[in-house]
Amino acid sequence: MIAKPKILVARAIFPEALAKLEESFEVRSNQADVVFTPEELKQELASVVGALVTGSERIDAHALSEAKQLKIVANISVGYNNFDIPAISAAGVMATNTPDVLTDTTADFGFALLMATARRMTESEHWLRAGSWTKWSIVNNPLGVDVSHSTIGIIGMGRIGQGIAKRALGFGMKVIYHNRNRLSETDEKTCQATYVSKEELLSTADHVILVLPYTPENHHTIGAQEIDLMKPTATLINIARGGIVDDGALAQALQTGKIFAAGLDVFEGEPNVNPQLLELSNVVLAPHIASSTEKTRRAMVDLAVENLRAAIDGKKPPSLINAEVFRD
Ligand code: DGY
Repeated sequence: MIAKPKILVARAIFPEALAKLEESFEVRSNQADVVFTPEELKQELASVVGALVTGSERIDAHALSEAKQLKIVANISVGYNNFDIPAISAAGVMATNTPDVLTDTTADFGFALLMATARRMTESEHWLRAGSWTKWSIVNNPLGVDVSHSTIGIIGMGRIGQGIAKRALGFGMKVIYHNRNRLSETDEKTCQATYVSKEELLSTADHVILVLPYTPENHHTIGAQEIDLMKPTATLINIARGGIVDDGALAQALQTGKIFAAGLDVFEGEPNVNPQLLELSNVVLAPHIASSTEKTRRAMVDLAVENLRAAIDGKKPPSLINAEVFRD
């Protein structure tokens, strides 16, 4: 009998997806879901031909140093800032992510976070739970800022950014955006979006939403200087990645009322959160859940598995990031 190829599933996945994998592979799975240390990850990768990983697994030269049979690292995530792509390519390993399947779900969440932040949803709930409703008056309850007919500034106009723009149109919003590359005329028309400089976006938008990938160049795209450009009535929403915003500078700005409020789904050093942010009422906090619906998470796992199977079968994975590694 031919031995089944050995794979690693580095974090817990849906039991049915795991059972399906076990039909074709010898699976080393981490259903206990305790994040591997870098040393453990290196050991785990040493004996497998493929690995399903998530943002909690940093795949770099150290992790790959003993992975002599590894063909693919399949991220269950569209963002892949946990991948050191040059190191993965140098090791001759294919790297894949999960684009498209999460676009709408993530854009929905971006909009939900914007709405919750502008209309002070979580703060209002705490106010109610604290019994403050009895003190209600026209002015004495959490007063928000408008979303409809305001200006949204989207930084990062990829698939998810464009999804947010399309949703904003339904709210009669003016859409401005900033991106590394300007969109085609057709895409700008579809989104009714106007390209502006980052400075113009920050100083004119009522709601700034960040949807750009994390790269070293994008580190602290929003810091104290950028926040200084924003309106005191503006909100800042981050559904991109921790590290794109200087969380310390943001906490300071929220505390001193430099901007109205923030909505954050991602954090520098997550799952740890800057303690100053935890003390503030004008910030809505979420634990990196923008893609988190059952349907979408299943679709992400399915696409990652499809990528893994293709690579192990010697085929080109559908969402290959480092195409130079693939040999027909
Ligand atoms: C993604 O897919 O990049 C989401 O942020 C979940 O990690």
